[in-house]
Parts: sequence; C-alpha cells; structure tokens
Amino acid sequence: MIISSHAKKYSVEVTDAGFITRLMEKSYKLVIIDKKVYDLYRNTLLAGLKKETLYLFDAVEKNKNAGSALKICGKMAEISFKRGDELVSIGGGIVQDVTGFAANIFNRGVRWTFIPTTLLAQCDSCVGGKTSLNFSAYKNILGTFYAPDNIYICLDFVKTLTEDDYLSGMGEVAKFNIMSAKDGIGLLENNMEKLLARDTGVLKFFVERSLEFKKRFIEEDEFDLDVRNLLNFAHTFGHAYEKTSNYAIPHGQAVTLGLITANNISRARNMLDPALKERIEKICMNFISVKLKKEWFLADKVIEAMKKDKKRKSDKLAAVLFSSDLSLKVVQDLEQKEVAEALSFIL
Ligand SMILES: NC(=O)c1ccc[n+]([C@@H]2O[C@H](COP(=O)([O-])OP(=O)(O)OC[C@H]3O[C@@H](n4cnc5c(N)ncnc54)[C@H](O)[C@@H]3O)[C@@H](O)[C@H]2O)c1
Ligand SMILES: [Zn+2]
Repeated sequence: MIISSHAKKYSVEVTDAGFITRLMEKSYKLVIIDKKVYDLYRNTLLAGLKKETLYLFDAVEKNKNAGSALKICGKMAEISFKRGDELVSIGGGIVQDVTGFAANIFNRGVRWTFIPTTLLAQCDSCVGGKTSLNFSAYKNILGTFYAPDNIYICLDFVKTLTEDDYLSGMGEVAKFNIMSAKDGIGLLENNMEKLLARDTGVLKFFVERSLEFKKRFIEEDEFDLDVRNLLNFAHTFGHAYEKTSNYAIPHGQAVTLGLITANNISRARNMLDPALKERIEKICMNFISVKLKKEWFLADKVIEAMKKDKKRKSDKLAAVLFSSDLSLKVVQDLEQKEVAEALSFIL
C-alpha cells in the first residue's frame, strides 16, 4: 500500500518471516532496536543483523523523551551518518516515536525504514507520520510529522507479545473495523476465536483493513485539522482512562473502554440501537485483560482528565459518537452528567 503525505509517498507492506530474514542481511549503518525484541529474535528472524550497527533501546515510557532522541542523533553524528544513509528501527510505538523524531531532526531528515513489532504499531501508529515524545509530566506533548520511507510488517512478531500488549493492539483493530461499516462488526464476531489465538492469516486480513481505513483519513487530513479528528473515536475517554489509571491500562485497552463509553452515550442519546450497542460491547470485552479498578472510573477524575486532553478545542467537553446508521458524529455539547452515567456501565 502506498500512502501519500505532504512530504512524500511512502510504502507499507505486510511481509513474511522470510522477507524480514533477508532484509536483515543487508548492510545498514545504524539499526535502533527494542532490546526485548532483539533478545527474543536475535537467533531467528533477526539473525542477520550486524552487531556493530545495533543501538539497543530500552522501550519504556520514561525513555520516550527528547534526551533519548538526542542520544540517537549523537550516535548518528559519531558514525558520520549522511542524509543518503538509511536509519532502520525495529520495535513498537515507543521505538517508532523516538526514532521518528531523531530521523526528522538529524540533518533535517534522513531516510528511515520502520519494522513495527507490536500489533498496535502494525495496525495503526506505523502510518500517519506522527512522532510524539513525553516531556516532564506531559505525555506525547512534543511532536512532529515525519513518516518512515518504508514500513515492513511481519505478523510473526506478535506471537511473543504479552496478552496485555496483544489485546491493546486488538483494541485499535476493533476501533477501525467497528468504525469502518457494519460488515466490520460481523467480521470481528465471526473471526473472534482466530483473532484471540493470534492466527497470522486472519490478523493479516484485519491489519490490512485497518491500515486501508486509516489511509483514507490521513491522506485527506494529514495534519489533524478536520476528518482525521474522527479517528479520535473512543480516544477522548481512552486518554482519560490512561491518566486516571496512571498508565496501568495500555493505550489500546483504554481505547476499547473509551469505545464502550462512547457507545453508552450514543445509546442514551438514542443515536444507537440497543442490539447494535450490545454486539459492539460484546466484541470489546474480549479485548480487556487488565483487571479494572473502580477508582480509575470515578466521574470527577475522568472528567478532570478529559478537560486536560491536549486535543480539546474549546472549554466544552467533546467526543466522537457512533450512530446506528454507522456514521460518526463529533459532538461538542457533552454534559458531565452524561459521562458520569456512561461510566456506571463500566464497572
Ligand atoms: N506516533 C503515533 O502515531 C502513536 C500512535 C499510538 C501510540 N503511540 C505511542 O506508542 C506507544 C505504545 O506503543 P506500543 O503499544 O506499540 O508498544 P511499546 O513500544 O510501548 O511496547 C510495549 C512492550 O512490548 C515490547 N515488545 C515490542 N515488540 C515485541 C514483540 N514482538 N514481542 C514481545 N515484546 C515486544 C516492548 O519492549 C514493550 O515492553 C505509546 O508511547 C504511545 O503513546 C504513538
Ligand atoms: Zn490509539
């Protein structure tokens, strides 16, 4: 698949283990890789990587900052990395954000190949070109737009994800496919067992559908000014739950809970019929593995977190809601009382 962005066209391709093995045998100048992924695959998929080109990165949120990006820039300077050289990075969203930022600012932009290894990065974040870093206590507050030149997805990597991380990715898959049309809901229902068993063939189908769906929005509105805001479906609440749980809920699972909340509000406003709401909720509940605590869903805490959301455009509470005709609607007049009522359905 080719994605057109303002700066360039870039490619994203679902490949297989053989392709990745061969790719790793090429000579690269610098490969930034999630330490955990390297340890898991150094003797198999990644056996071809040359040790002297590796930069092992500890992929934890506290390292997703400008300091880490600058250290990578320092490494590039030290090895005389030129504009024509290619930076490779292998890992999930954390590695993507840090290396994307470094690739963007070093020499005002270097060529970059990204191999996403989490389901979340494969089905969602690898396209769209956002790079986001944490700063001080603020998550994702620093950022740029800088897409990789090539993205190679290999679904074999998801086999080793923890259940929490795998289901986090499934939350985004569910979001795209539920948003995409009624057949998306039916397809999720019919393939649930295989999805939960991480069946590579079925996953390929859903990951490609998710990326195709996202492509339409990011090509039309790359800079988040208009229709791309609809991709925020479930995120207004999801971001709040990440905060109230102090990030104990992984991003995609928080999004799934956000989707349930948005649907409860849609239902209360009579926008969504009860049978469809039930079906969606049933799908979503398969993708929650974190043991939820009541204190994460207290209305005043959630509303306070929503008010601090960096994507808010006015003083009012806003959200993207879903209707029975499967259209999405941005509402700007959300009442605190509606949020509180919707929360009572979560626990
Ligand atoms: N830039 C964007 O558009 C965008 C979009 C969504 C999320 N994000 C960011 O992405 C981050 C979350 O990313 P994520 O969920 O992809 O994962 P991650 O990078 O946080 O990794 C999650 C865990 O999985 C491990 N891991 C990675 N690949 C593995 C594999 N194949 N097998 C076993 N373990 C593996 C990592 O070491 C880590 O412990 C957050 O910081 C979020 O803000 C960015
Ligand atoms: Zn998301």
